[in-house]
Amino acid sequence: MSQSFSIQENFNLSDYNTMGIAAKARYFCSVQSIEALQSLLADSRFQDTPNFMMGGGSNVLFIRDYDGLVIHMDIKGISIDQEDGEDITLNVGAGENWHNLVLHSVEKGWGGIENLSLIPGSVGAAPIQNIGAYGVELEEVFESLEAVEVKTGELKSFNKEECRFGYRDSIFKNELKGLFVITGVKLKLQKSPKVNTSYRALSDKLEEKGIRNPSIKDISKAVIEIRQSKLPDPAEIGNTGSFFKNPVISKEQFDELQSTYPDIPSYPAGDKIKVPAAWLIDQCGWKGKRFGDAGVHKMQALVIVNYGNATGEEIWNLAQRIQVSVKERFGVSLTPEVNIVS
Ligand code: EPU
Repeated sequence: MSQSFSIQENFNLSDYNTMGIAAKARYFCSVQSIEALQSLLADSRFQDTPNFMMGGGSNVLFIRDYDGLVIHMDIKGISIDQEDGEDITLNVGAGENWHNLVLHSVEKGWGGIENLSLIPGSVGAAPIQNIGAYGVELEEVFESLEAVEVKTGELKSFNKEECRFGYRDSIFKNELKGLFVITGVKLKLQKSPKVNTSYRALSDKLEEKGIRNPSIKDISKAVIEIRQSKLPDPAEIGNTGSFFKNPVISKEQFDELQSTYPDIPSYPAGDKIKVPAAWLIDQCGWKGKRFGDAGVHKMQALVIVNYGNATGEEIWNLAQRIQVSVKERFGVSLTPEVNIVS
């Protein structure tokens, strides 16, 4: 079952990460099939070489050159697995672009992922951090995924429970980090969609547009408009979306913060409270600040941007300074949502 693949050396990754960092990979290889991936993982030349898996490169920051093998997931394909009167289950290759899948589904009238319009990145990366936006998380439509075990080359299937989804989290960011390569994802969409307009910014937008009974197409368009109005387009300014996760803190800590900062926004998160990192960072005065080519976006304080030639180290230094200032002012630790690779 060996399949050909081609290895490039000292490969510039700038076109493969949306932050636009010009880090070099010692080896780089794009894989278009499960068999090619299995052959690559079994290749004797790379047994002692660290490897890093990349999808759309929209959630990664290379702090320096990568002295190992970067594998670019490029398995394509969207096909119908099964369908009945109500639902349709799709098999999607991990290398498909997430937003293209959303557009395809919306066009066909299949509901469930329209709120996740315009999220950069690939389909295979979506379950790793259980992508979410505007009131919907991937896990709501997720059925299962297939992944190749790096050590054995075996193809295994994971159902929803086995993925242990959480807020921007799954088993693939924890116990199984780096041990599996996701090759395909199965999603269940609705043929008679029920729309979700619970997220405030989304319902406000629909109202502003005078839309009372939105279709999934209306939702998708509204989400695209909101995102375009406050999130920078990676094709124009390098960025990786939200750089940090929204911190989840105890009720006690929140009450204390609220007594000093009565305007602090918050969302319930089980028996804890989620606080928007954007607000904390904004309060510390970082929004719109620029240091060389590294900066904090002027419309969304949670987005760190590369105006051109910032190095990964410069971006990371800025991120760390933000962490320190938020910790000093609010006593809250910010954790990167982005994968930091050094
Ligand atoms: N806010 C500020 N200053 C800012 C921006 C926002 O004070 O510069 C305040 C807003 O007033 C609001 C709160 O922060 O009260 C939350 O802002 P927003 O609704 O923009 O959402 P977020 O919590 O910053 C999250 C996700 C985004 C997702 C949006 C919409 C995380 C880490 N981020 O952002 O996801 O698009 O909600 O659902 O959960 C991503 O993961 O890359 C991403 C962009």
